[in-house]
Amino acid sequence: MLQGKKIVLGITGSIAAYKSCLIIRQLIKKGAEVQVVITPAGKEFITPITLSALTSKPVISEFFAQRDGTWHSHVDLGLWADAMLIAPATASTIGKMANGVADNMLITTYLSMKAPVFIAPAMDLDMYAHPSTQQNLKTLQSYGNHIIEPGTGFLASKLEGKGRMEEPENIVACLEQFFSQQGSMKGKKVLITAGPTYEKIDPVRFIGNYSSGKMGFALANECANRGAQVELVCGPVSALMQTKSPHIHRIDVESAQEMFEVCKELYPSMDSAILCAAVADFAPETTAKQKIKRTGDDMVIRLKPNPDIAASLGQMKQKGQTLVGFALETNDEESNAQAKLKKKNFDFIVLNSLKDEGAGFRTDTNKITIITAESKKEYPLKSKEEVAKDIVDELERL
Ligand code: PMT
Repeated sequence: MLQGKKIVLGITGSIAAYKSCLIIRQLIKKGAEVQVVITPAGKEFITPITLSALTSKPVISEFFAQRDGTWHSHVDLGLWADAMLIAPATASTIGKMANGVADNMLITTYLSMKAPVFIAPAMDLDMYAHPSTQQNLKTLQSYGNHIIEPGTGFLASKLEGKGRMEEPENIVACLEQFFSQQGSMKGKKVLITAGPTYEKIDPVRFIGNYSSGKMGFALANECANRGAQVELVCGPVSALMQTKSPHIHRIDVESAQEMFEVCKELYPSMDSAILCAAVADFAPETTAKQKIKRTGDDMVIRLKPNPDIAASLGQMKQKGQTLVGFALETNDEESNAQAKLKKKNFDFIVLNSLKDEGAGFRTDTNKITIITAESKKEYPLKSKEEVAKDIVDELERL
């Protein structure tokens, strides 16, 4: 899987830097080409001579080579690489990456990187558990980066690890697994809906819900990582929700009606659709032109039903097309999900319940059950990135 792959290995100033030698050895043994970019602090822990001997390449650390003034182009490295791995990644580097503080060659290379980025944090437990580190890791994850943490398995993103860097063989296994999945959806087109919809009451108020878009964006990233072309139709989500992959085309909408128009236009040319958005079922019958003033009386808003996007796509579905839906339930979960599976003509439905702690809206984790006409499979609580893998695995199995 790693044969011929070009890996930029970023090394930062951690005691775990010596383990990067083991990472390099394994990558090279498996046929990869490795280019090391090291921070000034990293060089305090491991010498560039050792690293260049292992990689058979000069180590890059400064913007200019001190010997002859050659300029090192971070942009070229960003285009050259098939993946960037930062191992060990200190709290300082993680913070700079999350906030775009481009004061060394490693960070500029990261900011120019076109390939997927893997980050293996390494620090003591208190630094790791600090809210600022946790926030920075979440930010990096929301940008589509993969966080590799100890004890939590492949491309883990559960943010309660111990801070210790994952073992070199597991880090290399993460890269191998990533490349083995990459390309499995090449040539496929997938429509994904994400986030909430807002239904306007007046110029300042709306009916909405708590969806953050995290689950839908994780699905988009997963499909794109596997080589699919993704049309991501998303309702109003936070500015922090960003996608990096050139395989994702994002279309922002506000209301259920707008989402419906875009989806029905796109679906006929898609191989699959995954409908993860929390679409408002009702909208105010009229939208006031001016801000509605308080009068002291009761306020009554008459609602009209919105189009059911899923049911419409279910009717449009042609042979060879797949339609996947979600069911967000609070009670009678399974029977409600079964009813939606049938009514909306889904191939399978992903059930998540607000009764399960850590599942549903806004969390970084989710707990799902995948239900088809013939089967039911329950999954444990996992990060939304891992949940997305389970869902896309099921989609690929169909
Ligand atoms: O965005 P996050 O904060 O990460 O939260 C993720 C999530 C909880 C929003 C997600 O996991 C989820 O459950 N999404 C579906 C929420 C929902 O609206 O479920 P539902 O049971 O009301 O709808 C059933 C299905 O029909 C869904 O696929 C929904 O997208 C679709 N639908 C619903 C109504 C409508 N008018 N049109 C639709 O297409």
